[in-house]
Amino acid sequence: MADAFLDLIDNSINAALKSSFASENALSYTALLESPPTKRFKVQLTFTPTKVIVEDDCGGITAKDAQEEVFVFGAGDQEGHQDDQLSVYGIGLKRAMFKLGKYIEMTSDHKDGGFKLDLNVPDWAKNKEQPWKFDINERPKAQAGFTKLEVTDLYKAVNARLSDAQFESQLKDRIARAYSFFISKIIDIYVNGQQIVAEQVAISDNQASENFSVDDVDVAILAGLGVPKDKRYLSETAGWNVYCNGRSVISYDKTGLTGWGVDGLLPSFQPKHRPFVGIVFFTSKHPESLPWTTTKLGVNPDNIVWQRTLKRMADAGKQVTRFLDARYSEDGTSISSDELQDAIGTAKTVTLKVTSSSPLLFRAPPKPPNNTTTIQYKVDKKELAEAKSATGQGSISNSEFGRYTYDYFVDNEVK
Ligand SMILES: Nc1ncnc2c1ncn2[C@@H]1O[C@H](COP(=O)(O)OP(=O)(O)OP(=O)(O)O)[C@@H](O)[C@H]1O
Ligand SMILES: [Mg+2]
Repeated sequence: MADAFLDLIDNSINAALKSSFASENALSYTALLESPPTKRFKVQLTFTPTKVIVEDDCGGITAKDAQEEVFVFGAGDQEGHQDDQLSVYGIGLKRAMFKLGKYIEMTSDHKDGGFKLDLNVPDWAKNKEQPWKFDINERPKAQAGFTKLEVTDLYKAVNARLSDAQFESQLKDRIARAYSFFISKIIDIYVNGQQIVAEQVAISDNQASENFSVDDVDVAILAGLGVPKDKRYLSETAGWNVYCNGRSVISYDKTGLTGWGVDGLLPSFQPKHRPFVGIVFFTSKHPESLPWTTTKLGVNPDNIVWQRTLKRMADAGKQVTRFLDARYSEDGTSISSDELQDAIGTAKTVTLKVTSSSPLLFRAPPKPPNNTTTIQYKVDKKELAEAKSATGQGSISNSEFGRYTYDYFVDNEVK
Protein backbone atom coordinates (compact mmCIF):
# COMPACT_ATOMS: atom_id res chain seq x y z
CA MET A 1 0.00 0.00 0.00
CA ALA A 2 2.75 2.41 0.91
CA ASP A 3 4.21 1.44 -2.47
CA ALA A 4 1.42 3.31 -4.28
CA PHE A 5 2.33 6.51 -2.43
CA LEU A 6 6.00 6.05 -3.30
CA ASP A 7 5.10 5.58 -6.98
CA LEU A 8 3.39 8.97 -6.89
CA ILE A 9 6.18 10.71 -4.97
CA ASP A 10 8.68 9.34 -7.50
CA ASN A 11 6.80 11.21 -10.23
CA SER A 12 6.71 14.46 -8.30
CA ILE A 13 10.42 14.30 -7.52
CA ASN A 14 11.22 13.33 -11.09
CA ALA A 15 9.41 16.47 -12.25
CA ALA A 16 11.16 18.60 -9.60
CA LEU A 17 14.59 17.26 -10.56
CA LYS A 18 14.10 18.19 -14.22
CA SER A 19 14.23 21.86 -13.40
CA SER A 20 16.63 21.81 -10.48
CA PHE A 21 19.20 19.04 -10.45
CA ALA A 22 21.36 17.24 -12.97
CA SER A 23 23.21 14.27 -11.55
CA GLU A 24 26.62 13.40 -12.95
CA ASN A 25 27.55 10.57 -10.62
CA ALA A 26 27.44 9.52 -6.97
CA LEU A 27 29.33 12.63 -5.93
CA SER A 28 26.44 14.81 -7.15
CA TYR A 29 24.30 13.42 -4.35
CA THR A 30 26.76 14.00 -1.56
CA ALA A 31 27.43 17.46 -2.93
CA LEU A 32 23.67 17.96 -2.76
CA LEU A 33 23.71 17.09 0.94
CA GLU A 34 26.41 19.64 1.59
CA SER A 35 25.01 22.45 -0.52
CA PRO A 36 22.38 24.92 0.64
CA PRO A 37 18.97 24.05 -0.81
CA THR A 38 17.93 25.90 -3.94
CA LYS A 39 14.29 26.48 -4.81
CA ARG A 40 12.36 23.79 -3.00
CA PHE A 41 9.32 22.03 -4.33
CA LYS A 42 6.56 20.55 -2.25
CA VAL A 43 4.52 17.36 -2.38
CA GLN A 44 1.66 16.75 0.02
CA LEU A 45 -0.01 13.45 0.77
CA THR A 46 -3.27 13.54 2.62
CA PHE A 47 -5.45 10.57 3.37
CA THR A 48 -8.42 9.42 5.38
CA PRO A 49 -9.76 5.85 5.27
CA THR A 50 -12.00 6.92 2.36
CA LYS A 51 -9.92 9.36 0.34
CA VAL A 52 -6.36 9.82 -0.92
CA ILE A 53 -4.95 13.09 -2.24
CA VAL A 54 -1.45 13.68 -3.60
CA GLU A 55 -0.59 17.16 -4.84
CA ASP A 56 2.63 18.83 -5.91
CA ASP A 57 3.96 22.08 -7.34
CA CYS A 58 6.68 20.38 -9.37
CA GLY A 59 5.85 21.73 -12.82
CA GLY A 60 2.55 20.24 -13.89
CA ILE A 61 1.57 18.23 -16.95
CA THR A 62 0.34 19.56 -20.31
CA ALA A 63 -2.87 18.28 -21.88
CA LYS A 64 -0.78 17.03 -24.79
CA ASP A 65 1.52 14.98 -22.56
CA ALA A 66 -1.47 13.67 -20.61
CA GLN A 67 -3.03 12.53 -23.89
CA GLU A 68 0.09 11.08 -25.49
CA GLU A 69 2.29 9.85 -22.65
CA VAL A 70 1.06 10.06 -19.09
CA PHE A 71 -1.93 7.74 -19.43
CA VAL A 72 -0.26 5.37 -21.83
CA PHE A 73 0.84 2.05 -20.33
CA GLY A 74 4.53 1.28 -20.58
CA ALA A 75 7.36 3.50 -21.70
CA GLY A 76 7.28 2.12 -25.25
CA ASP A 77 10.27 1.97 -27.56
CA GLN A 78 10.60 5.64 -28.33
CA GLU A 79 13.31 7.62 -26.55
CA GLY A 80 11.84 8.75 -23.26
CA HIS A 81 12.05 12.26 -21.91
CA GLN A 82 15.63 13.44 -21.87
CA ASP A 83 16.09 14.22 -18.22
CA ASP A 84 13.91 11.72 -16.44
CA GLN A 85 15.74 10.40 -13.40
CA LEU A 86 13.10 8.51 -11.43
CA SER A 87 10.59 7.87 -14.23
CA VAL A 88 11.52 4.69 -16.04
CA TYR A 89 8.95 2.09 -16.99
CA GLY A 90 5.82 4.10 -17.79
CA ILE A 91 3.56 2.33 -15.29
CA GLY A 92 3.94 3.86 -11.81
CA LEU A 93 1.10 6.38 -11.85
CA LYS A 94 -1.39 3.96 -13.39
CA ARG A 95 -0.38 1.15 -11.03
CA ALA A 96 -0.80 3.46 -8.03
CA MET A 97 -4.14 5.00 -8.96
CA PHE A 98 -5.77 1.72 -10.01
CA LYS A 99 -4.52 0.04 -6.83
CA LEU A 100 -6.16 2.68 -4.64
CA GLY A 101 -9.75 3.03 -5.74
CA LYS A 102 -12.54 3.31 -8.28
CA TYR A 103 -13.01 7.03 -8.65
CA ILE A 104 -10.04 9.05 -9.86
CA GLU A 105 -9.73 12.76 -10.44
CA MET A 106 -6.52 14.22 -11.77
CA THR A 107 -6.03 17.93 -12.32
CA SER A 108 -2.93 19.69 -13.54
CA ASP A 109 -1.95 23.28 -14.22
CA HIS A 110 0.85 24.00 -16.66
CA LYS A 111 2.21 27.15 -18.25
CA ASP A 112 1.32 25.72 -21.67
CA GLY A 113 -2.14 24.58 -20.53
CA GLY A 114 -2.94 21.69 -18.20
CA PHE A 115 -5.71 19.11 -18.08
CA LYS A 116 -8.44 17.51 -16.03
CA LEU A 117 -9.39 13.86 -15.99
CA ASP A 118 -12.40 12.32 -14.25
CA LEU A 119 -12.28 8.58 -14.28
CA ASN A 120 -14.90 6.19 -13.05
CA VAL A 121 -12.89 2.99 -13.28
CA PRO A 122 -15.75 0.41 -13.43
CA ASP A 123 -17.51 2.39 -16.21
CA TRP A 124 -14.27 2.91 -18.09
CA ALA A 125 -13.39 -0.79 -17.86
CA LYS A 126 -16.71 -1.74 -19.54
CA ASN A 127 -15.51 -0.16 -22.75
CA LYS A 128 -13.39 -2.86 -24.41
CA GLU A 129 -12.14 -0.56 -27.17
CA GLN A 130 -8.38 -0.75 -27.86
CA PRO A 131 -6.18 1.13 -27.33
CA TRP A 132 -7.53 2.40 -24.01
CA LYS A 133 -8.78 5.95 -24.06
CA PHE A 134 -9.09 8.42 -21.22
CA ASP A 135 -11.32 11.46 -21.33
CA ILE A 136 -8.83 14.30 -20.96
CA ASN A 137 -10.10 17.89 -20.85
CA GLU A 138 -7.82 20.85 -21.45
CA ARG A 139 -7.35 23.56 -18.88
CA PRO A 140 -6.18 27.14 -19.57
CA LYS A 141 -2.53 28.21 -19.32
CA ALA A 142 -1.48 28.81 -15.74
CA GLN A 143 1.32 30.73 -14.05
CA ALA A 144 2.42 27.97 -11.70
CA GLY A 145 2.75 24.25 -12.35
CA PHE A 146 0.57 22.09 -10.15
CA THR A 147 -0.67 18.50 -10.16
CA LYS A 148 -3.30 16.92 -7.96
CA LEU A 149 -4.52 13.34 -7.86
CA GLU A 150 -7.58 12.52 -5.80
CA VAL A 151 -8.84 8.97 -5.41
CA THR A 152 -12.14 8.10 -3.70
CA ASP A 153 -14.35 5.02 -3.54
CA LEU A 154 -11.28 3.21 -2.23
CA TYR A 155 -10.97 -0.58 -2.32
CA LYS A 156 -11.79 -2.42 0.91
CA ALA A 157 -8.19 -3.56 1.47
CA VAL A 158 -6.95 0.00 0.96
CA ASN A 159 -9.56 1.33 3.36
CA ALA A 160 -8.48 -1.24 5.96
CA ARG A 161 -4.81 -0.37 5.58
CA LEU A 162 -5.42 3.37 5.79
CA SER A 163 -7.52 2.84 8.94
CA ASP A 164 -4.60 1.00 10.59
CA ALA A 165 -3.09 3.18 13.30
CA GLN A 166 0.43 2.02 12.35
CA PHE A 167 0.16 2.85 8.68
CA GLU A 168 0.92 6.54 8.81
CA SER A 169 4.13 6.15 10.79
CA GLN A 170 5.30 3.24 8.63
CA LEU A 171 4.70 5.31 5.52
CA LYS A 172 6.60 8.27 6.97
CA ASP A 173 9.57 6.04 7.83
CA ARG A 174 9.67 4.62 4.32
CA ILE A 175 9.55 8.07 2.76
CA ALA A 176 12.25 9.38 5.12
CA ARG A 177 14.58 6.61 3.93
CA ALA A 178 13.64 6.32 0.28
CA TYR A 179 14.20 10.00 -0.53
CA SER A 180 16.83 10.93 2.05
CA PHE A 181 18.99 12.70 -0.55
CA PHE A 182 16.15 14.85 -1.89
CA ILE A 183 14.24 15.78 1.25
CA SER A 184 14.90 19.36 2.35
CA LYS A 185 17.23 19.86 -0.61
CA ILE A 186 15.03 19.46 -3.67
CA ILE A 187 11.64 18.84 -2.15
CA ASP A 188 9.63 19.08 1.05
CA ILE A 189 7.32 16.13 1.64
CA TYR A 190 4.29 16.31 3.92
CA VAL A 191 2.13 13.43 5.13
CA ASN A 192 -1.19 14.55 6.59
CA GLY A 193 0.29 17.97 7.20
CA GLN A 194 3.48 16.77 8.87
CA GLN A 195 6.81 17.47 7.24
CA ILE A 196 9.07 14.45 6.79
CA VAL A 197 12.65 14.65 8.03
CA ALA A 198 15.22 12.70 6.00
CA GLU A 199 16.73 9.60 7.56
CA GLN A 200 20.24 9.33 6.22
CA VAL A 201 22.36 6.18 6.42
CA ALA A 202 25.26 6.95 8.76
CA ILE A 203 28.72 5.68 7.88
CA SER A 204 31.93 6.65 9.57
CA ASP A 205 35.00 8.12 7.94
CA ASN A 206 37.16 5.03 7.64
CA GLN A 207 35.87 3.46 4.45
CA ALA A 208 36.75 1.12 1.67
CA SER A 209 35.51 2.72 -1.49
CA GLU A 210 35.69 2.36 -5.21
CA ASN A 211 33.99 3.79 -8.27
CA PHE A 212 33.76 2.58 -11.83
CA SER A 213 31.29 2.40 -14.65
CA VAL A 214 29.55 -0.44 -16.38
CA ASP A 215 28.26 0.64 -19.80
CA ASP A 216 26.25 3.83 -19.23
CA VAL A 217 25.93 3.37 -15.45
CA ASP A 218 28.26 4.94 -12.88
CA VAL A 219 28.76 2.90 -9.74
CA ALA A 220 30.20 3.96 -6.39
CA ILE A 221 30.71 1.51 -3.54
CA LEU A 222 31.46 2.35 0.10
CA ALA A 223 31.88 -0.08 2.96
CA GLY A 224 32.73 0.78 6.53
CA LEU A 225 31.41 0.99 10.05
CA GLY A 226 28.18 2.62 11.06
CA VAL A 227 27.78 5.18 13.78
CA PRO A 228 26.75 3.57 17.10
CA LYS A 229 23.59 4.69 18.89
CA ASP A 230 23.90 4.79 22.69
CA LYS A 231 27.22 2.95 22.27
CA ARG A 232 25.49 0.05 20.57
CA TYR A 233 25.21 -1.31 17.06
CA LEU A 234 21.88 -2.76 16.06
CA SER A 235 21.10 -5.34 13.41
CA GLU A 236 18.40 -3.09 11.96
CA THR A 237 21.00 -0.56 10.89
CA ALA A 238 23.53 -3.01 9.46
CA GLY A 239 23.95 -4.21 5.89
CA TRP A 240 23.95 -2.87 2.35
CA ASN A 241 22.01 0.16 1.13
CA VAL A 242 21.45 0.59 -2.57
CA TYR A 243 20.46 3.81 -4.37
CA CYS A 244 19.47 4.26 -7.99
CA ASN A 245 19.68 7.90 -9.10
CA GLY A 246 19.53 8.90 -5.45
CA ARG A 247 16.36 6.89 -4.71
CA SER A 248 16.80 4.14 -2.12
CA VAL A 249 15.77 0.72 -3.41
CA ILE A 250 17.27 -1.48 -0.65
CA SER A 251 17.94 -0.61 2.99
CA TYR A 252 20.23 -2.51 5.33
CA ASP A 253 20.18 -5.78 3.42
CA LYS A 254 21.82 -8.77 5.09
CA THR A 255 20.74 -11.46 2.65
CA GLY A 256 22.20 -13.38 -0.24
CA LEU A 257 20.81 -10.73 -2.59
CA THR A 258 23.70 -8.44 -1.65
CA GLY A 259 26.20 -11.29 -1.35
CA TRP A 260 25.93 -12.30 2.32
CA GLY A 261 26.48 -16.03 2.71
CA VAL A 262 27.16 -16.49 -1.00
CA ASP A 263 30.20 -18.54 -1.98
CA GLY A 264 33.01 -16.32 -3.19
CA LEU A 265 31.30 -13.17 -1.92
CA LEU A 266 30.67 -12.34 1.78
CA PRO A 267 30.34 -14.52 4.89
CA SER A 268 26.83 -15.09 6.28
CA PHE A 269 25.70 -12.11 8.30
CA GLN A 270 26.21 -12.71 12.03
CA PRO A 271 25.70 -10.51 15.10
CA LYS A 272 29.42 -9.65 15.09
CA HIS A 273 28.84 -7.87 11.76
CA ARG A 274 26.36 -5.40 13.26
CA PRO A 275 28.69 -2.41 12.78
CA PHE A 276 28.85 -3.09 9.01
CA VAL A 277 27.39 -0.45 6.73
CA GLY A 278 27.68 -0.54 2.96
CA ILE A 279 26.37 1.92 0.39
CA VAL A 280 26.14 1.49 -3.35
CA PHE A 281 25.16 4.28 -5.71
CA PHE A 282 24.08 3.63 -9.27
CA THR A 283 23.58 6.68 -11.43
CA SER A 284 22.75 7.02 -15.09
CA LYS A 285 21.24 9.38 -17.63
CA HIS A 286 19.42 6.29 -18.90
CA PRO A 287 17.44 5.21 -15.85
CA GLU A 288 16.29 2.06 -17.64
CA SER A 289 19.88 0.76 -17.40
CA LEU A 290 19.85 0.94 -13.60
CA PRO A 291 19.43 -2.34 -11.71
CA TRP A 292 16.08 -1.52 -10.06
CA THR A 293 12.93 -3.56 -10.40
CA THR A 294 9.82 -2.10 -12.07
CA THR A 295 8.42 -1.37 -8.60
CA LYS A 296 11.70 0.25 -7.44
CA LEU A 297 11.41 -1.92 -4.33
CA GLY A 298 14.59 -3.87 -4.91
CA VAL A 299 17.35 -4.74 -7.32
CA ASN A 300 16.92 -6.95 -10.32
CA PRO A 301 19.43 -9.78 -9.73
CA ASP A 302 19.57 -10.50 -13.47
CA ASN A 303 20.74 -7.00 -14.34
CA ILE A 304 24.26 -7.15 -15.77
CA VAL A 305 25.40 -3.97 -14.00
CA TRP A 306 24.27 -5.49 -10.70
CA GLN A 307 26.08 -8.75 -11.37
CA ARG A 308 29.34 -6.96 -12.16
CA THR A 309 28.95 -4.81 -9.05
CA LEU A 310 28.28 -7.66 -6.58
CA LYS A 311 31.81 -9.00 -6.84
CA ARG A 312 33.30 -5.59 -6.15
CA MET A 313 30.88 -4.98 -3.26
CA ALA A 314 32.23 -8.19 -1.75
CA ASP A 315 35.85 -7.03 -2.24
CA ALA A 316 35.14 -3.79 -0.38
CA GLY A 317 32.86 -5.46 2.18
CA LYS A 318 35.38 -8.16 3.06
CA GLN A 319 37.89 -5.56 4.20
CA VAL A 320 35.36 -4.67 6.89
CA THR A 321 34.03 -8.14 7.74
CA ARG A 322 37.58 -9.50 8.09
CA PHE A 323 38.28 -6.80 10.65
CA LEU A 324 35.05 -7.51 12.52
CA ASP A 325 35.69 -11.27 12.45
CA ALA A 326 39.12 -10.76 14.02
CA ARG A 327 37.62 -8.49 16.63
CA TYR A 328 35.03 -11.02 17.70
CA SER A 329 35.67 -12.27 21.19
CA GLU A 330 34.36 -15.45 22.75
CA ASP A 331 32.88 -13.49 25.63
CA GLY A 332 29.82 -12.49 23.68
CA THR A 333 28.36 -11.43 20.41
CA SER A 334 27.82 -7.79 21.12
CA ILE A 335 30.68 -5.53 20.11
CA SER A 336 31.43 -2.70 22.44
CA SER A 337 31.80 0.50 20.52
CA ASP A 338 34.71 1.61 22.70
CA GLU A 339 36.68 -1.15 21.11
CA LEU A 340 35.69 0.06 17.67
CA GLN A 341 36.41 3.70 18.28
CA ASP A 342 39.89 3.50 16.74
CA ALA A 343 38.49 1.97 13.62
CA ILE A 344 35.70 4.47 13.19
CA GLY A 345 37.66 7.67 12.80
CA THR A 346 35.39 10.69 12.80
CA ALA A 347 31.81 9.62 12.61
CA LYS A 348 29.95 11.56 9.99
CA THR A 349 26.78 11.12 8.07
CA VAL A 350 27.51 9.69 4.66
CA THR A 351 30.97 10.84 3.82
CA LEU A 352 31.51 9.75 0.28
CA LYS A 353 35.18 9.22 -0.18
CA VAL A 354 34.92 8.25 -3.78
CA THR A 355 37.76 9.63 -5.80
CA SER A 356 38.02 9.46 -9.54
CA SER A 357 41.45 7.88 -9.24
CA SER A 358 42.44 5.02 -6.97
CA PRO A 359 40.18 3.09 -4.63
CA LEU A 360 40.42 3.67 -0.88
CA LEU A 361 41.16 0.87 1.55
CA PHE A 362 39.55 0.30 4.91
CA ARG A 363 42.22 0.83 7.58
CA ALA A 364 41.92 -1.96 10.13
CA PRO A 365 43.72 -0.89 13.31
CA PRO A 366 45.93 -3.55 14.89
CA LYS A 367 44.20 -5.72 17.43
CA PRO A 368 45.14 -4.59 20.94
CA PRO A 369 47.22 -7.20 22.82
CA ASN A 370 44.98 -9.41 24.90
CA ASN A 371 46.01 -8.96 28.57
CA THR A 372 42.73 -10.10 30.02
CA THR A 373 41.38 -13.33 31.39
CA THR A 374 38.09 -14.60 32.83
CA ILE A 375 37.10 -15.54 36.40
CA GLN A 376 34.30 -18.01 36.94
CA TYR A 377 33.07 -19.77 40.11
CA LYS A 378 29.94 -21.19 41.73
CA VAL A 379 28.30 -19.69 44.81
CA ASP A 380 25.22 -20.30 46.93
CA LYS A 381 22.20 -18.46 45.48
CA LYS A 382 20.75 -17.25 48.76
CA GLU A 383 24.06 -15.96 49.99
CA LEU A 384 24.63 -14.19 46.66
CA ALA A 385 21.25 -12.44 46.94
CA GLU A 386 22.22 -11.19 50.39
CA ALA A 387 25.62 -10.07 49.16
CA LYS A 388 23.96 -8.23 46.23
CA SER A 389 21.62 -6.34 48.52
CA ALA A 390 24.60 -5.37 50.68
CA THR A 391 25.85 -3.43 47.64
CA GLY A 392 22.70 -1.32 47.78
CA GLN A 393 21.74 -2.40 44.22
CA GLY A 394 19.81 -5.65 44.77
CA SER A 395 18.90 -6.05 41.10
CA ILE A 396 22.40 -6.04 39.53
CA SER A 397 23.31 -9.02 37.36
CA ASN A 398 25.75 -11.70 38.43
CA SER A 399 28.47 -10.45 36.16
CA GLU A 400 27.98 -6.87 37.29
CA PHE A 401 28.20 -8.09 40.87
CA GLY A 402 31.38 -10.03 40.07
CA ARG A 403 32.90 -6.91 38.56
CA TYR A 404 31.78 -4.82 41.54
CA THR A 405 33.30 -7.11 44.17
CA TYR A 406 36.52 -7.54 42.19
CA ASP A 407 36.95 -3.77 41.77
CA TYR A 408 36.16 -3.31 45.46
CA PHE A 409 38.93 -5.73 46.43
CA VAL A 410 41.47 -4.25 44.02
CA ASP A 411 40.70 -0.69 45.17
CA ASN A 412 40.96 -1.54 48.88
CA GLU A 413 43.60 -4.21 49.07
CA VAL A 414 45.79 -3.90 45.99
CA LYS A 415 46.09 -0.23 45.04
N1 LIG B 1 3.23 14.73 -10.56
C1 LIG B 1 3.68 14.78 -11.84
N2 LIG B 1 4.27 15.90 -12.33
C2 LIG B 1 4.74 15.95 -13.59
N3 LIG B 1 4.71 14.89 -14.46
C3 LIG B 1 4.14 13.74 -14.03
C4 LIG B 1 3.61 13.62 -12.70
N4 LIG B 1 3.10 12.37 -12.57
C5 LIG B 1 3.32 11.75 -13.75
N5 LIG B 1 3.95 12.56 -14.63
C6 LIG B 1 4.32 12.22 -16.01
O1 LIG B 1 3.63 11.05 -16.36
C7 LIG B 1 4.52 10.07 -16.88
C8 LIG B 1 3.98 8.70 -16.55
O2 LIG B 1 4.10 8.42 -15.17
P1 LIG B 1 4.20 6.92 -14.66
O3 LIG B 1 4.53 6.96 -13.23
O4 LIG B 1 2.99 6.17 -15.05
O5 LIG B 1 5.40 6.31 -15.48
P2 LIG B 1 6.93 6.73 -15.39
O6 LIG B 1 7.12 7.61 -14.22
O7 LIG B 1 7.34 7.25 -16.71
O8 LIG B 1 7.65 5.33 -15.14
P3 LIG B 1 7.66 4.40 -13.82
O9 LIG B 1 6.89 3.17 -14.19
O10 LIG B 1 9.09 4.14 -13.59
O11 LIG B 1 7.00 5.18 -12.74
C9 LIG B 1 5.86 10.41 -16.24
O12 LIG B 1 6.93 10.00 -17.04
C10 LIG B 1 5.79 11.93 -16.15
O13 LIG B 1 6.26 12.49 -17.35
MG1 LIG C 1 6.56 7.09 -12.28
